Amino acid sequence: MPEIRLQQLRKDYGAVNVIENLNLEMADGEFTVLVGPSGCGKSTTLRMIAGLESVTGGQIMIGDRDVSLLEPKERDLAMVFQDYALYPHMNVAKNMSFALRLARMNKSDIEARVKDVAATLDLTAYLDRKPAELSGGQRQRVAMGRALVRDAGTFLFDEPLSNLDAKLRGQMRAELALMSQRIKKNMIYVTHDQVEAMTLGDKIVVMKFGEIMQAGTPEELYRSPANKFVAGFIGSPTMNFLNAELVDDAGTLFAKGDGFSIPLPDARKGALQAHRDRNIHIGIRPSSFAEGPGGLKMPVILSEYIGAQSVLISELGGQRVSIEINTVAPIRAGEEREFTVQGDEVHLFDPKTEAAL
Ligand SMILES: Nc1ncnc2c1ncn2[C@@H]1O[C@H](COP(=O)(O)OP(=O)(O)OP(=O)(O)O)[C@@H](O)[C@H]1O
Ligand SMILES: [Mg+2]
Repeated sequence: MPEIRLQQLRKDYGAVNVIENLNLEMADGEFTVLVGPSGCGKSTTLRMIAGLESVTGGQIMIGDRDVSLLEPKERDLAMVFQDYALYPHMNVAKNMSFALRLARMNKSDIEARVKDVAATLDLTAYLDRKPAELSGGQRQRVAMGRALVRDAGTFLFDEPLSNLDAKLRGQMRAELALMSQRIKKNMIYVTHDQVEAMTLGDKIVVMKFGEIMQAGTPEELYRSPANKFVAGFIGSPTMNFLNAELVDDAGTLFAKGDGFSIPLPDARKGALQAHRDRNIHIGIRPSSFAEGPGGLKMPVILSEYIGAQSVLISELGGQRVSIEINTVAPIRAGEEREFTVQGDEVHLFDPKTEAAL
């Protein structure tokens, strides 16, 4: 299982450039997730790796092989699409073994592989059924199984769970995570669901307009987003963004805005020197608010009680913010409560470039 490297990858559709210069390395056996809004080039990137789409410029390296110009079947990979189509007249076992039969693998080896993968995907009891006799989630698993029986070095998934309802999606996500722990292969997984990205990825690659905004572990992206786009994309509920000014008061830096003034840790002073007395954007995750005396007095405009947690919609200096806190009993809308925010949980961004400061 070699590492995969995308080098100066470019894709034009006619006169339209959708990917200009994409560079990415994926380690051996890594689960890489490509995320980003619709149209940012996730499927195009995956399809170029698969060989289903030509490369306009640059290289795709798998190990020390440049596969950019190779046929899909020469690349040692298997792909699962969003709109997978099972063969309706074949039972589950036949659907799963299709590629192996095509490759003329011998019968007992095929049976063993199918049995093995069916067990992994919890499909053993359904091997004799036709697709029409399966639930949506079971069909989805068969589509996965069809790819997994092939002992490819790399597996590519393009939104394989997007046709499922929320509950099934959650179940399949967990099964996928378990499966990838078991079979340590290169996996490249496209989704626009940031929860899927966070829970499945060893590495997450956030894309926008054909460019990589940041690549890193889920924790790196969550804790240290490189820019406002990644900060807003990763994390749910979404990070709150507020306008503020960096003000030095008796040696302490404050992020000061309409209705709030949050002291920032001294450790950040050096990096922020150039932005003193300037306007910046600050980002506060909903979960960074804590209820407590001496905090900011904020109105509860809307309160969503979810059990152990509540998400509140509030306002700070005329700007809407959401707050996520642990609750025992529901907090009522219309109340005013006090919330504190720790300075080291405040993210700061350059208002022009949107880069993290
Ligand atoms: N065959 C094509 N011809 C012309 N433009 C295309 C073609 N395929 C994709 N595009 C364009 O390339 C861009 C990237 O498309 P792509 O399918 O890679 O996006 P995506 O990130 O997978 O989006 P989604 O989340 O909606 O699936 C889009 O602007 C799309 O319109
Ligand atoms: Mg797509």
